[in-house]
Amino acid sequence: MNQRIKKVIFGSNLKMYKTNHETLAYLARLQELTKDILRDLLELFILPSYTAIADCCRMVDPALVRIGAQNVHWHSEGRFTGEISARMLQELGADFVMIGHAERRQFFGETDLMVNKRVLTSLNIGFHVLICVGDSAQDKELGIFKERLSMQLKTALHGVKKDQLSRVWVAYEPVWAIGEGGTVATPDYANSIHNVLHNLIEDLYPEIGGQVPILYGGSVNMNNAADLIVQPRIDGLFIGRAAWDANNFNQVIRIAIQAIN
Ligand code: PGA
Repeated sequence: MNQRIKKVIFGSNLKMYKTNHETLAYLARLQELTKDILRDLLELFILPSYTAIADCCRMVDPALVRIGAQNVHWHSEGRFTGEISARMLQELGADFVMIGHAERRQFFGETDLMVNKRVLTSLNIGFHVLICVGDSAQDKELGIFKERLSMQLKTALHGVKKDQLSRVWVAYEPVWAIGEGGTVATPDYANSIHNVLHNLIEDLYPEIGGQVPILYGGSVNMNNAADLIVQPRIDGLFIGRAAWDANNFNQVIRIAIQAIN
């Protein structure tokens, strides 16, 4: 039986699923359903589409739900058609951004160096960042998953200053676990990878590296959330499909919180 009382982080990336209207309805419901959960136990965040950020920031209580963006460009302005700058996001009310999600890497040619540039720009403007790393099925098969994760994470953090580390979260999302057809990592396995990642950050930032939370993501749902969150090296859960219905997400959160406390 797990005796820890820890604050956990739960969040969802809405990807390109909900319109502004749908996002607001979803958020209103999620906020209402979860408002009684002590925020000493829970930190909750949602990453809607860019078009919904301004309204979401106006609507939610930031003490209950934090709103962030799904990506950001590293330049403050320029000839970068279709991109969005940190300053633009800031004006909408966002102070939090996810960087390097597996789908960005897979479908939009996102490299480790691009991730690093986005991270540095975001931290320098004062944002909080969620850096996503994940090995592919092939990395796993070839036995190079630790090397891959280490390259992704070390590159992402290159140049991040010690005093910026308190604004860094990491998500471990194996590509083979994400989305339809994905297989969730077993709790033991996920914990062992989190351990590797935590150690790596502690090596890079002696003494303070341990403060960086690492979330697990990839096919998390009501049936596996409790077993994952009780793992000592897992600090939160980053959820896609199972979180896009507010009732369902609320249940996942409650099941998980009950399991750890
Ligand atoms: P999933 O998505 O929970 O639907 O597998 C996770 C993610 O893409 O972050």
